[in-house]
Amino acid sequence: MIMNKWIKVCSTHEIENKKLLRFDYNDKKLLIVSQNSTIYAADSVCTHADADLSSGFLNSEGIQCPLHLSTFNLDTGIPQNPPAEKALKTYNVKIEHNVVYVDLKN
Ligand code: FES
Repeated sequence: MIMNKWIKVCSTHEIENKKLLRFDYNDKKLLIVSQNSTIYAADSVCTHADADLSSGFLNSEGIQCPLHLSTFNLDTGIPQNPPAEKALKTYNVKIEHNVVYVDLKN
């Protein structure tokens, strides 16, 4: 059985102000994004060549890598344009009492 593993990452206020932040948990580097009133979580390391997506750019299609400019969909993690081909891992998010939690179960 797979257990959920919810970790607390930030307040809703913080992510709504910053739009984009990185949160490290043990060896995981997470990207937290607020876009169109939804909060998303994904790996912060680009699947192409390890660039840090938390220093990338948000656009209408998702998060754009700062190095070679692939954009990843924030829901599915799927790259929308080359050179990245592999999907980014995404995580479930929940909000309780204005605190954002990410489920690291997988
Ligand atoms: S490192 Fe992200 S697209 Fe190349």
